[in-house]
Parts: sequence; structure tokens; C-alpha cells
Amino acid sequence: MNIGFFDSGLGGVAVLKEALDTGLSENIYYLGDTKNTPYGTKDENFVKEVINDNINYLIGLNCNPIVIACNTATSLCIKELRDKYPEVKFIGTEPAVKVAADAHNSKKILVLATTITAKQEKLHALIKELDIDSKVKILPADKLVLFAEDIDCKNKSKEVEEYINELFEGLDLHEFSHIVLGCTHFPLFRENFANVIHTKDENLKIDIVDGAKGIAKNLINTINKLNNRDDYIKQNKSVTIITTSNKPEFIVRVNEILENEPIKTDIKLR
Ligand code: DGL
Repeated sequence: MNIGFFDSGLGGVAVLKEALDTGLSENIYYLGDTKNTPYGTKDENFVKEVINDNINYLIGLNCNPIVIACNTATSLCIKELRDKYPEVKFIGTEPAVKVAADAHNSKKILVLATTITAKQEKLHALIKELDIDSKVKILPADKLVLFAEDIDCKNKSKEVEEYINELFEGLDLHEFSHIVLGCTHFPLFRENFANVIHTKDENLKIDIVDGAKGIAKNLINTINKLNNRDDYIKQNKSVTIITTSNKPEFIVRVNEILENEPIKTDIKLR
């Protein structure tokens, strides 16, 4: 079975890692739109167009299911994609607001996302449906995407933590029980978030949540359903990384995130 993973860049690799850790073993094609990243601050029509083009490419590789490992792409396009390709199972990504809302001690919830995700009706409808409007604060945090895509990311902890501090300016973090990382790039900075919170108050306890585990579970269930089984049968595993521009540093970062899972790489230039 060919499984597609798609993101604007590296964020979805962390989702892929979670799926591999859960036991996923198939022909996997990961497409990172390195030419057009970041999506979150760009014109919505342009972003929709490039997403459609990239998904079409994965469908051409016979990928089914396809994981849209990107909150921005999910909020902009998943409905349209499901209508356009009814034979393909799309697994989307949305900010893990429900996980936070379901927690017993839930105080306020801070949702960090890209500008596009923060604006889209999909997120606001979810918050309304959970009836937690008054508890949720949404903040765009687009600069984290740029940090994540930087080859020198590992040496930029200081800058990343300064930026996280800026994001928190004017908030009393004691009012919050959860921070939802609503962009797949953001969990790459989980440790930096924890450091900043700890520096503010070492007794402050805030849960930092993201959707990667849920997506991995959903993917395995979807594969089982497509195969008409309850249990997951592992196949031969191959991971092929495809990019839309010639960026060798992307592969270096992929290897760092996948912790040297054997991968093939393919540059898809257009
Ligand atoms: N990783 C993506 C997301 O989850 C996209 C970030 C971007 O390209 O701005 O939203």
C-alpha cells in the first residue's frame, strides 16, 4: 500500500515519526513543498492552488490514504479534496483543542497556529462545537515555521525562546492549563516551550499538546478498514522523501527528525 504524507515542509515529518513509532510499515511517500513554505502567511488562493497540485502528485503515485500532516492545508482544503477525490481517504490534522477541553482540570487553553489556520472557520467551528469559546485564546506563531525550516535550527534555541517569550507577552500563564500546538512544525520546539514556562515559574504546570499521536492512530485504523481487518499487518517499509525545490538541507533536517530511519530522497522540481 502506498501511503502519502504531505506538509509545506518539515512539520509533517514529526507526524510521520510518530506513525513509524506506532508501527507503520508501508511504502511511504513524504512530500514537503519546500518551494512554497511557509504557507501560513501567504495568500489563501495561492496556497490552495499549490496544495491541490501537490495532492494531485501524490494521487499520481497511487497514494491512498493520504495524511495531510498540516493544519493549514487541512483547514483550507480538506473538504474540497474529499469532494474532488471520493476514492481517496484523507486524514487531516486539526489543532488538538478537544484533548485540552476534555482534560478534567482544564482552565484556559492557548492555541498557537499559523495565521491562516487561526483565521479559518474550521477552528472557530470546532471551538464553538465544544462550547469553550470563553476559555480559548488563539495566537498566530508563524515565525516558528521559519525557525523549524532553518538548517541551523539546533543552534537557534536562544532566538526561538526569545520569540516564544514575545508570544507570551501580556498573558498571565497561570490562567492556562494547556497550550495546543496547532501547527505540525511547532512540536519541534516542545522543549523550548517547556524551558520558557519553567523560567517564568518553575512550579507552573501547563500541558503542551499536539495531534500527532491521534493522527498516527487514525492512520492505522484507516489502513485496517481499507484492508478489511481489525489488526494491522506490517508490510515492507520504505520511506521516500520528495521535495519541490533543490534543498539538500531539508534532507539533513528530515534525518535529524526521523533519527536516521533509512530513507530514499527524490527531488521533484518544477
Ligand atoms: N506545518 C503546517 C501547519 O501545520 C504549515 C506551516 C506553514 O507552512 O506555515 O499548519
